Amino acid sequence: MAGASTAALAAAVSNAGALGGFGGTDSSPDELREVIRAIRHMTDKPFIINLYLDRTEPYVPVVEHEAALKTALAPVHAELHAGEVPNPVDLFGKFDSQVAVVLEEYVPVLSSHFGAPDASVMRALKANGTRVIATATTVGEARHLASAGVDAIIAQGAEAGGHRGTFAAPVEQSQIGTIALVPQIVDAVSVPVIAAGGIMDGRGIAAALMLGASGVQMGTAFVPCPETGANPAYVRRLLSAAPGDAILTDVVSGRAARLLRNRLVNLLEQHRGHRLAFPEQHSMTRNLRKAASAIDNAEFLPMWAGQGVMLTRAMPAAALVESLVAEAQNLLSYSLASAPAVRDRAPRANRSTESPVVCPSARKRQRRVQRARRHHQNDVSQDALESDDE
Ligand SMILES: Cc1cc2nc3c(=O)[nH]c(=O)nc-3n(C[C@H](O)[C@H](O)[C@H](O)COP(=O)(O)O)c2cc1C
Repeated sequence: MAGASTAALAAAVSNAGALGGFGGTDSSPDELREVIRAIRHMTDKPFIINLYLDRTEPYVPVVEHEAALKTALAPVHAELHAGEVPNPVDLFGKFDSQVAVVLEEYVPVLSSHFGAPDASVMRALKANGTRVIATATTVGEARHLASAGVDAIIAQGAEAGGHRGTFAAPVEQSQIGTIALVPQIVDAVSVPVIAAGGIMDGRGIAAALMLGASGVQMGTAFVPCPETGANPAYVRRLLSAAPGDAILTDVVSGRAARLLRNRLVNLLEQHRGHRLAFPEQHSMTRNLRKAASAIDNAEFLPMWAGQGVMLTRAMPAAALVESLVAEAQNLLSYSLASAPAVRDRAPRANRSTESPVVCPSARKRQRRVQRARRHHQNDVSQDALESDDE
């Protein structure tokens, strides 16, 4: 969670029994090393370092667009005393120099966004004992990551906060909701799948596990934790967000991302026609964001947030992990008597003292998928599933 993650947040999550992560994409190699050592100082448990892969196309400057954006952004720079609108730059560190630190420091888990590391880096990471996970937003991307040798795949549904991890599909074909995406990826690959996008509490976790996920990744839910690196004004907005506030747009960074609407989004939307590539577009507002952050002005901060934002709660990371586990265990319990949350939320007509039907049917379906897989060598077709119905 670049921008919102801290060493303290990652360590607190890992110490609580989950797998904490640090978004290191905008860290220099030295900063990254410092963070890794700080995490290790606070926990002896495994943790993740997340990095963006470098873009494949070089930046092609469009002078007219850069000039138009500068003109559009000048008044708000003056309003916030943010100085000049800067020239566009490639904002993020280079993956190779960052992953070199990951290797030198024997980081337990690397997660990559926008694809999988290339084969030589994968080999080096594996030889080092580092597990590699990567994000897919379509079944095709998941297959690609599996063949690249990742250890697990994050199935990132369209509800997710922050940047879409899309790397091989057109943006308009990769907005698949978590509930549709997870089981399709589970059926398509043989590595564990981690569900992400809109998962905010035990209900989301239980649902993801029922869909076949082996775990979940949660971003938005952890932003308001006291260990956060997010600006307090951003946290206040998260905690008071209304339905529809978390929108998907490419105008803020140059790449599709979900965040809360504010004046920054509104202004950049008016100049969509002059949008630069990612991350140059994002770099144009770096002085503005710094000035906004210094005075806790949420109107000019990118407030990355998922569609589940209204379910955000402010509590320490360890307490949040503990609550999430308790909520999910309660819901997943086969005994409805010991799972009052299930009974209380079920429609009146469906309330019963028997176990939730979802558990046996999920087990049945899992058995059918496993049988179909054996027959079709991991290529599970709908026909195979239907003809094998019980
Ligand atoms: C504040 C914030 C920052 C994020 N930064 C990153 C990042 O740097 N790298 C990354 O792979 N994903 C990033 N994400 C996406 C998350 O990894 C994850 O896919 C997403 O948060 C899941 O959806 P949710 O926000 O609904 O829980 C970020 C998400 C948020 C909310």
